[in-house]
Amino acid sequence: MCGITGYIGYHEATPRLLSMLQKLEYRGYDSAGIAVLDNDEIVVRKMKGPLSVLESALANEKIPGTLGIGHTRWATHGEPSDINAHPHTDISGFIAVVHNGIIENYIKLKNYLQERGVVFRSETDTEVIAHLLNFYYRNGKNRGQNSLLDAALKTLSKLEGSYSLGIIASDFPDRLICARKDNPLIVGLGENENYIASDVPALLPYTRNIHFLNERELAVLYRDHVDLFTESGEKIIREPSSIEWDIKSAEKSGYAHFMLKEINEQDKALSDTLSPRLIKKSNESITINFDEIKLDDSWAEAKKIVITGCGTAYHAGIVGKYIFEHFARIPVEVDIASEYRYRNPLINPNDIFIVMSQSGETADTLAAMRLAKKHGAKILAITNAVGSTLSREADLILYTWAGPEIAVASTKAFTTQLMCLYLLALRLAELRKTIPDREYKRTVRLLVKIPEQARNILVNQEVIQKLASKQFNKNKVFFIGRLFDYAVSLESALKLKEISYTHSEAFAAGELKHGAIALVDKGTLVIAIATQEALFEKIISNIREVSSRGAEVMVITWEGERAFDTVAAEIITIPKTDSSLSPLLSIIPLQLFAYYCAVQKGNDPDKPRNLAKSVTVE
Ligand code: M6R
Repeated sequence: MCGITGYIGYHEATPRLLSMLQKLEYRGYDSAGIAVLDNDEIVVRKMKGPLSVLESALANEKIPGTLGIGHTRWATHGEPSDINAHPHTDISGFIAVVHNGIIENYIKLKNYLQERGVVFRSETDTEVIAHLLNFYYRNGKNRGQNSLLDAALKTLSKLEGSYSLGIIASDFPDRLICARKDNPLIVGLGENENYIASDVPALLPYTRNIHFLNERELAVLYRDHVDLFTESGEKIIREPSSIEWDIKSAEKSGYAHFMLKEINEQDKALSDTLSPRLIKKSNESITINFDEIKLDDSWAEAKKIVITGCGTAYHAGIVGKYIFEHFARIPVEVDIASEYRYRNPLINPNDIFIVMSQSGETADTLAAMRLAKKHGAKILAITNAVGSTLSREADLILYTWAGPEIAVASTKAFTTQLMCLYLLALRLAELRKTIPDREYKRTVRLLVKIPEQARNILVNQEVIQKLASKQFNKNKVFFIGRLFDYAVSLESALKLKEISYTHSEAFAAGELKHGAIALVDKGTLVIAIATQEALFEKIISNIREVSSRGAEVMVITWEGERAFDTVAAEIITIPKTDSSLSPLLSIIPLQLFAYYCAVQKGNDPDKPRNLAKSVTVE
């Protein structure tokens, strides 16, 4: 997974390519590079390290060219290095390519080219694309205006795997070619200038008119227009889409990091996700309106729900299991999307299949969705990315209206995914008649209060900052909880490990005594999430079990709750709601805890090591 940018217009390309790359650095940051066509020659500058290294190197260099491509890399084939950084060119430097994805048959293609005398310089799979393009261009029959497009079509027909590509060639100063398969790519339409980028935030400073490329489509960008093609070379006529995002929402707006900004936006994100789905007749009578997805009788009659996703989205799915079973009394299976297609799953077309993904571009999640679809399942996608592959391939879509999530660690996407699941479960419960009217109304009223309650947690975040400054150096942190609290423990442990690099694990509290308690010793921090009143006595016993073995215990519970005063060293409280809704709130202090621990350790929470935001490779 990498970030791609491209520009063709009348302004200097370099500053635009770099500023767009800044917006895409979340996709990979082990090296960066640009290629700009300048006076009939392609100038390539690429360097190991974050984008800032390249920016400093270019600060005193003027490259006046007005056509170029850029790349920020997350290494898959070959270590991060200057040579392996993109763009890659053919040996003569005639063609330059940037690539996001994996070419699975690159060894075979490389052998084929090497046998014909082609010399390779890098260890990447991408380099074969540059050489193949050159090979087909030089050996093509057509020497006319379409010869570069023809070479691109021929090259794509030889590639197996996934790609989004940006291509420029020194014989063609008037065009930029791009293509996609299994990786996102967007074409931005300006006035006498056009752009490509892997994601919308990169384009927002320049244009809001966008073509989302579909699978196996190409675009040829000229300065004054853009032509779209299928991979078999047929022209496509399609109106562009207009993007409504506020540019501020894709910037840090004064926060130290995107992650902190995104945590702090959760009250608004929750409200934006909830409000359009409510019809308010009076304060007493608020109902859920799902006009955007028609839930027909097959929903009421379904025998099972399957939820799949990766990472945080998978954890939202686990909360979803508790939510659907609690409200709609329907069995739920939650599957890790990266495992799904390898275990020969039983797919029943009558099941409800929910696919969760913030980006809508996660390769494993898309593969799980495609397998289920192939077997006749109807797909409901919950995603944050309008125009993403998931949103275009699913049968029904529920958008989380969280706005762009830039930080690698997912925060507001999680809580808004939960909000969608609650709304869906309540609506389903209504259809299946598994919830008394009074309880339905009461729960909807409690949901309405959640955004404000989230804000109340956020305004008091110094408390959590102080706790983090005391605890950030712990070597071992265990999160324990029961039911909904266990699901939140999983997500909390993921947050802490991915940005603070602290070894953290989540356990269903009752499972401790079956093995994991052997790990507990002096110096272990145990964070107990305790919002399930019916199980307070149980979790208190679990807390005693770990504290008697030397662990320090921190508890997350309701405001005003005194049950833990004598058993925990630290207590963090959240505003009171029903136990069944607690994940919407209890995760917020733990996201903040992970964030402040990472900052205390000197880590960059927006760009944790070895990770990237969008995992578009297997
Ligand atoms: O875009 P997606 O929701 O499909 O991404 C899935 C995971 O890669 C993602 O949630 C990942 O686990 C985050 N880094 C967690 O914070």
